[in-house]
Amino acid sequence: MGNTLGPSVSASAGGKVILLGEHAVVYGSGAIAVGLDQGAHAEVRETPVAELVLGERRYVLGPEPDPAPAARAFAALLESLGTVGIAAEARLEIPAGAGLGASAALGVALARAVRELLRRSTGRVPAIAPAALAWENVFHGNASGVDTAAAEYGGCLAFRRGTEPRALHPGRPLELVVALVEPGASTRHMVEGVAARRAAERAGIDSLLDSIGALVERAGACIALGDNAQLGQLMSENHERLVALGVSTPRLDQACRWALEAGALGAKLTGAGGGGCAVALVEADRRAAVLEAWTGRALRCWEKRSE
Ligand code: PMV
Repeated sequence: MGNTLGPSVSASAGGKVILLGEHAVVYGSGAIAVGLDQGAHAEVRETPVAELVLGERRYVLGPEPDPAPAARAFAALLESLGTVGIAAEARLEIPAGAGLGASAALGVALARAVRELLRRSTGRVPAIAPAALAWENVFHGNASGVDTAAAEYGGCLAFRRGTEPRALHPGRPLELVVALVEPGASTRHMVEGVAARRAAERAGIDSLLDSIGALVERAGACIALGDNAQLGQLMSENHERLVALGVSTPRLDQACRWALEAGALGAKLTGAGGGGCAVALVEADRRAAVLEAWTGRALRCWEKRSE
C-alpha cells in the first residue's frame, strides 16, 4: 500500500455454495446457501488517495474515474459506507468466477474492515449489507443478494430477495463436497441469458423458475427434519431444472453423475453455471468415495460440514 497512513485493520469473509435456488432467486423465489470457511481477506488503512490492490492489480481512485469494474465497485462500496480515503489490499482464497461467491466475499471482507476502521476513528458503524451489495452489483448487474448475505452471515441460510436472511438449523449435519469442474462464466452474462430466454418464452421459463422455488420450499423442510436423503434428491432435481434453463454444461452434468455413481445423496451445479463448480451432498461414510471420484479426475475440491 503505497500512499498509506495510519494503522491497518483486517477482516475476512467466506464464500458460499448455493444448495438450491440459483437464478430463480433473482425473480423472487427462495434460495438456500451454505457459507464456506474459505473466502477473502482484506486489510485497510486511511489514506489521502483511495486505492485497491487486488492480487497483482492496483486501482487508484484518483480524480479521473477508473472504468475497471473493481475500481467502480470499490468506489461504490466506499460511497455506501460514507467514506472516501481508504487504501485496501485484498486477496482471495477461492477461485473467482466459479460460483463460490468470491466477489461477495471480497465485498463483505472489505466492508467489514472499513467499518471497523471507521468505528475506531469516528465511532460511526455503517451497515455492511448495502455496501457489499453496491460492490456486488457492479460485477453482477442484477444481484439478488444471496451471495453477500451468505458471506456476511455464514452457516446455512434461507434467503429471499428483499427480506432478512434466515438461519436454518440442520436436523442432521450437512456433509458437502464441492468441486471446481471447469472455468466459470460471468454471472452477469448467465443472469442476462436467463432474462433473454424469459423474454422470448415467458410462460415456459416462469414455470421452470416456479418449480425451482417449490423445490427450495421442500428442501427447507428437509433440512429442518434432517431428511438428507430427500434433500439430496431435491438438489439433483434442481440440477435437472437448471439444465432445462440452459445454464449447465456437459462437464457439470458429468461431474454430477460421477458424484452420484460414487454414492452422493444428490449433486448439482452451484452458482450461475456456464461452468464453475458442482456441489454434492453426502453421507459421512461416502464422503471419501465422492471426494476420490472428483479428485481422482483432477478436480480441485473443498469440503464443508454445516451443523
Ligand atoms: O455469483 P454466483 O455464480 O454464485 O451466482 C449467484 C446466484 C445467481 O442466482 C445466479 C445470481 C444472483 O444474484 O442470485
